[in-house]
Amino acid sequence: MTDLNDLRQHMIASIDACSGLDALETARVEALGKQGRITQLLKTLGGMTPDERQAQGPAIHALRESVTAALAARKATLEQAALDARLADEHIDMTLPVDAPLGGTIHPVSQVMDELAEIFADLGFAVATGPEIEDDWHNFTALNIPETHPARAMHDTFYLAGEHERPMVLRTHTSPVQIRAMKAAGGNQPIRIIAPGRTYRSDSDATHTPMFHQVEGLVIDKGITLGHLKWTLETFLRAFFERDDVVLRLRPSYFPFTEPSAEVDVGYSVVKGKRVIGGSEGWMEVLGSGMVHRTVLEAGGYDPAEWQGFAFGCGIDRLAMLKYGMDDLRAFFDGDIRWLKHYGFSSLDVPTLSGGVGA
Ligand code: PHE
Repeated sequence: MTDLNDLRQHMIASIDACSGLDALETARVEALGKQGRITQLLKTLGGMTPDERQAQGPAIHALRESVTAALAARKATLEQAALDARLADEHIDMTLPVDAPLGGTIHPVSQVMDELAEIFADLGFAVATGPEIEDDWHNFTALNIPETHPARAMHDTFYLAGEHERPMVLRTHTSPVQIRAMKAAGGNQPIRIIAPGRTYRSDSDATHTPMFHQVEGLVIDKGITLGHLKWTLETFLRAFFERDDVVLRLRPSYFPFTEPSAEVDVGYSVVKGKRVIGGSEGWMEVLGSGMVHRTVLEAGGYDPAEWQGFAFGCGIDRLAMLKYGMDDLRAFFDGDIRWLKHYGFSSLDVPTLSGGVGA
C-alpha cells in the first residue's frame, strides 16, 4: 500500500512538473501505456489470490484514476498556456497606420454603399437604417405577406430560437425599413430614403450567400406615379455605371408589397466576349420595384387616398459584381487579403459625383 502511495505521489509530481505537451505524453506512456507502470501493476492482479486481489485491486484502480485525472488537468493547463502564448504572439496593433505591411483597403461592398449614398443624396434622399434582427410583423405582415403567404417560405428565412412576443427573424430583405420609415414619419409628410444594409437567407452557391446586402429605396408623396419610379431608377443606374447609354426594361412582376410591380433589367453589350453594361444586346435583372401597395401604406400609417409612393430593392453585392467584374459572390466574404488587395479601394477614393462615383 505504502508503495502505491509513494508511486502515486511520485507520478503526480512528475506530471505536474511537465513543461510541455510532449513531456506530458511521455509521462502518460510511462504510466498508462502498454508497458507503463500502472498497466504492469494491473496485470499482476491476475496472478494474485482472491484475498490479495480484493485488497490490491481497488488500490491499483484508484491509482490509475488519480493519475489519469492529473494528466487531464496538466494537459488543460498546458493547452491554455499554449493558446495564451499564441494569442499574445499573433497580436495585431489595430492602431497602426494604413501603410503598415498589411495595408488596408475599402471593401467593394462598402465602396458601393458610399457610391449609392452619394448618388441618392444628390436626388434628395436621406439614408435610413433598421435592425438586422427583425420581428415577423415588420419583415412580413406589414409588407402584406400574411402568415400563410407562400413568400414566407420563398425567402428561406432564418428564424430565431426562443420565446419572443412576436417571432423574430434575421431580416430577409431591407423592405421592413419601409415600414419603419413610414411609422417614424408619422403618416403626414413626404419620405425619400434609401436603406442599405445586411440581409439574410438560407442559401449558398456562387451567386448566393447566407448574408448579403441590399439597398431599399422608398418615396412617399402626393401624386407619385410609375413615371417617377422609372426616372429615378434610370438616373440612379446611369450615375452608378457612369454611362449615359444605360437602358432599362421594366417587366411586369409580382411582389406582395407593391402594386403594380416591375422587375427591372439593365441592357448590356458584349465587348471582346465580356458583358458590359450599356446598350441593349442582352438584358440582366438588377432590381425589384413597384408602387407601394395600399395595404402597406396603411400599415405604415399613411392614408392611400391621399399618399402614393414607389419602392425598389436591389442587391448591392450584385451591383458591385456587375460594375467591377467579379464573378463569385462567395469571395466577397472570405476575407482573403489578396482578393481585397485586387478589388479593394484606397481609403482616399471617396466617391463623389464630380469625380465620377467609382473613381
Ligand atoms: N424586397 C424585395 C426582394 O428582396 C425587393 C423589392 C423591394 C421589390 C421593394 C419591390 C419593392 O426581393
